[in-house]
Amino acid sequence: MKQQELIDLVKDMSLTEKVNQLLQVTSGFYIDEAILTGPIRENGITEESIAEAGTVIGLLGAEKYKEIQDSYMEKHPHKIPLMFMFDVINGFRTIFPIPLGQGATFEPELSKRLAQVAAKESAVSGIHVTFAPMVDLVRDARWGRVMESTGEDGKLNSDFAKAMVEGFQGDDVGQEYNIAACVKHFAAYGAPTAGREYNTVELSENTLRGYYLPAYKVAIDAGVEMVMTSFNTLNGVPATGNEWLMRDVLRDEMGFDGVLISDWTAIEEIIYHGYAKDRKQAAELAIKAGVDIDMMTGIYSKELAALIESGKVDERLLDESVLRILMLKNKLGLFENPYKDADPIKEKEVILCEEHRKTALEAAEKSFVLLENDGILPLKKGEKVAFIGPFVPEKEIYGAWSMLAKDEDTVSIADAFAKFEGVYDMTFTQGSPVLGAEDYKLIPKHHVKEVSKADEERMLAEAVEAAKGADKVILAIGEHRVMSGEAASRTDLLLPEVQQRLLRAVHEVNPNIAVVLFTGRPLDLREISEKSKAILNVWMPGTEGGNAIANTLTGNFNPSGKLPMSFPYNVGQVPVHYNEYFTGRPFDPKSGEVMYRSNYRDIPNTPLYPFGYGLSYTTFAYSDLTINKNQMTADEQITASITLKNTGDCTGTETVQLYIRDCFGSVVRPRKELKDYQKVTLQPGEEQVISFTINEEMLQFCRVDMSFGSEPGEFHVYIGADSSTEEYVAFELI
Ligand code: IFM
Repeated sequence: MKQQELIDLVKDMSLTEKVNQLLQVTSGFYIDEAILTGPIRENGITEESIAEAGTVIGLLGAEKYKEIQDSYMEKHPHKIPLMFMFDVINGFRTIFPIPLGQGATFEPELSKRLAQVAAKESAVSGIHVTFAPMVDLVRDARWGRVMESTGEDGKLNSDFAKAMVEGFQGDDVGQEYNIAACVKHFAAYGAPTAGREYNTVELSENTLRGYYLPAYKVAIDAGVEMVMTSFNTLNGVPATGNEWLMRDVLRDEMGFDGVLISDWTAIEEIIYHGYAKDRKQAAELAIKAGVDIDMMTGIYSKELAALIESGKVDERLLDESVLRILMLKNKLGLFENPYKDADPIKEKEVILCEEHRKTALEAAEKSFVLLENDGILPLKKGEKVAFIGPFVPEKEIYGAWSMLAKDEDTVSIADAFAKFEGVYDMTFTQGSPVLGAEDYKLIPKHHVKEVSKADEERMLAEAVEAAKGADKVILAIGEHRVMSGEAASRTDLLLPEVQQRLLRAVHEVNPNIAVVLFTGRPLDLREISEKSKAILNVWMPGTEGGNAIANTLTGNFNPSGKLPMSFPYNVGQVPVHYNEYFTGRPFDPKSGEVMYRSNYRDIPNTPLYPFGYGLSYTTFAYSDLTINKNQMTADEQITASITLKNTGDCTGTETVQLYIRDCFGSVVRPRKELKDYQKVTLQPGEEQVISFTINEEMLQFCRVDMSFGSEPGEFHVYIGADSSTEEYVAFELI
């Protein structure tokens, strides 16, 4: 349709029809099937509004979507098609590593491919829009949704945001197998006070603009079609009713002209925040803020017409919202073909096809981070290996959002090692359940099969027996998949107690332990690090997880992942992030002086494993850090270089990281900030000079007057293996 035809269509729609176009309901309102991703409240959604609702949230498959679309359009006064949306986060049916794991690849182009695969599988199943990518910057491991972010760094998050938007949407969302992306959650949902889900967010405007907003902006510049509001208040105002945030910042400053959707019942929640006195006022605040789609409340449908008729809300606001929604439907080509790519035959061909599984394997391997290794890994042929732990047989090794994941699709560690029969002398023992009786509180009850105390004891005894005679123990332990994700905040970052007991018991009889760690968040790994000789962090690796782990443990794949989020020393340290500010009384661990210094008396200031950290089976040496000049003007560039040498005895891939410190500014500047990175593969003994170009744009920051720009002065350049690198060279911006 031409733009003018859409405008005419809006003019032709009745007031109620327009209002209902703003309503999003679950598929359960059309057929007896829905997946709920939020609470069902007394929402006041009526049959009349459902018959004219503009969009659906759900997950059904091509056949059923077509059925709904047909019967809906038949009755709709203007034959406007429905648009179907869902949370396709880390894959559709072929499940990839959780986004935090994807961040560890430091390879946004890979995530672009993953998004393309997910888009294709979703598109043939009838989905038009995904509620991804989530680009919230995260610094607090207590918050369960850190698993859905690519981590604590704005530059890394921005690179992944762009890649994922491009992957889902392609060059044109209307083209075959592309779906629209929705960046979320605007804004600063990743900074809830004390890490507690949905909690208050208090951020200075400078921190908000300088650190939290850039990744959303990059997604907008990449052409993202939708933005989702966040549940939280931001400095006292609920985001979903925040006109300054949504109109001045998002639309006017950041240039977003697509569809803005509320999070699930977030318009209603403006009332519970204590900001609106009733549903009418909540509707008024949200529409004035420019929220186009009301997800899962009847508030717009019920209240907007009266607000317009009474003159409280200008009908033009409603018309703008309707037009934006119709424009997106039009871009997707739904007016011409309301099914778009939905096709039950293609669903069978495309979903979980060999090519997609191969991509899943590559992504899982590249997401793994080797945190410790004294040489116990990789395994050597002929060794007697005891595989112990609840994650040895476990197939639920995908993240919290993997709605379509099925155990029968997923390769566990035990499955994957079956093909190494004869190569190693192997035993497989579960050792413990994922959660024991005292751990059930950590997840919703229906997610675990409860195990009796007697069975726990029996499993533990079997594990000890298996460990006794082995050359090496592969101990597969970690968080249950629903211990992270939405509404999964925790105040401690330890493993479930039953697994801690397993670690201790195995360690007593055999210290040759290599831990394979499953997790959706940074954990407190002090005891694991003490009691093991290697730790391979595999996050929630997805469908091909078992194969990827087997390839890595056997040395067929050499780990290369780097942490996208600091792993704290303990929970008392969070929120912890590498790009912190200095204090006026910094602590110098070398001097040991603690009085009147910024330090903890009981633990170090630094995390156990810093941002950017990750080992390989080989070793790398960094030398000869240089810059080609030590002064530059705003239109000049500097080249910074380092020599990287593979000093070990196998081929390996290293992510070389460039950090810059701006030594002083109109607001204080972080210790250092990631500015660029390169993944380099070197043969044993090979060395390469790695160069980075530094330009003025990389030196810009949110200044004291909230404008972005650089300021002249001294800068330090660091190139190294992680954010703790200390050696630097200096230059001056003049
Ligand atoms: O997209 C999600 C959001 O991230 C959390 N609340 C529910 C939405 C829709 O499922």
